[in-house]
Amino acid sequence: AEALRVGIAGLGTVGASVARVLRDKGAELTRQCGREIVVTAVSARDRSRDRGVDLSGAQWFDDPIELAEKADIDVFIELIGGDEGAARACVRAALDAGRHVVTANKALLAKHGVALAEVAEKKGVLLNYEAAVAGGIPVIKTMREAMAGNSVNRVFGILNGTCNYILTRMEAEGLTFEACLADAQRLGYAEADPTFDIEGNDTAHKLAILTSLAFGSKIAADDIYLEGISNITQADIRAAAELGYRIKLLGVAQRTESGIEQRVHPTMVPTASVIAQVHGVTNAVAIETDILGELLLSGPGAGGNATASAVVGDIADIAKSRPGFQHGPVFGRPAKELKPYKKAQ
Ligand code: HSE
Repeated sequence: AEALRVGIAGLGTVGASVARVLRDKGAELTRQCGREIVVTAVSARDRSRDRGVDLSGAQWFDDPIELAEKADIDVFIELIGGDEGAARACVRAALDAGRHVVTANKALLAKHGVALAEVAEKKGVLLNYEAAVAGGIPVIKTMREAMAGNSVNRVFGILNGTCNYILTRMEAEGLTFEACLADAQRLGYAEADPTFDIEGNDTAHKLAILTSLAFGSKIAADDIYLEGISNITQADIRAAAELGYRIKLLGVAQRTESGIEQRVHPTMVPTASVIAQVHGVTNAVAIETDILGELLLSGPGAGGNATASAVVGDIADIAKSRPGFQHGPVFGRPAKELKPYKKAQ
């Protein structure tokens, strides 16, 4: 089969990791997909930076929108980040041009996911976003594909690696909030603007996507009750420990009699509970359904390799899909049939 040509827009922590994994695991991917995956185009802000991977064989674009529209690619990989500006414009341009899109951009999907899904579905292309929620954990494929027929009652979890890393080290090592955040940034876990991590917005973006998949509702991130961890002190952590609890930043969405409740806030969880054993940058997602019962997925939630693993999985899915094959709906059911979100009172 012909090689699958991919273009990568954004070569930060995640973009560079994706390029490296595609290079290092090229032979394995070719075996698994039955065809080669080749990076034929790239775009980033700074052309000269050393990213530890030779991209000289790929066509360079200063403008990611031009890459999306004009490059010789089958798949557009958006790893720029941000819910407006370049990321939104180039994803839209790529879909309009009939290209498959892979994105790790939870902020973009939380705001414009349904509109973008409608375009992808109309064009018959894939819009894959496994890396947007819980880093390397395959929670999107699990919910969208493996749990067909299940009705979800509740989905909750630790969805931000930066916050869990901070809370874990504050508790285990008695470090200050600021010192832990600085390390999370240095390790490439945090968002470009870490306010999104510590104030809970990033968790809310991911929760909104999970809520939509779980309950067939339109994505409604703005309706989420939101409280981050920036006010958590050593005194809070010690007080919780004395009572037999740990503090975790949780995102929770559940069916109630009056509607779907969505919230993000620091939560005291019993030290002996499974969720309390989720340490460091690890994320965890618990899903409770009528047929399956309780499922708990945990794994690396942020960082270059973990996120790249999910992105590469999405690219491999496209490499395995057959030309002319009609692709299914982006959020598990057709975008135009997603129900308006009903907020619990
Ligand atoms: N900043 C995010 C986190 C990256 O810490 O979880 C992964 O989405």
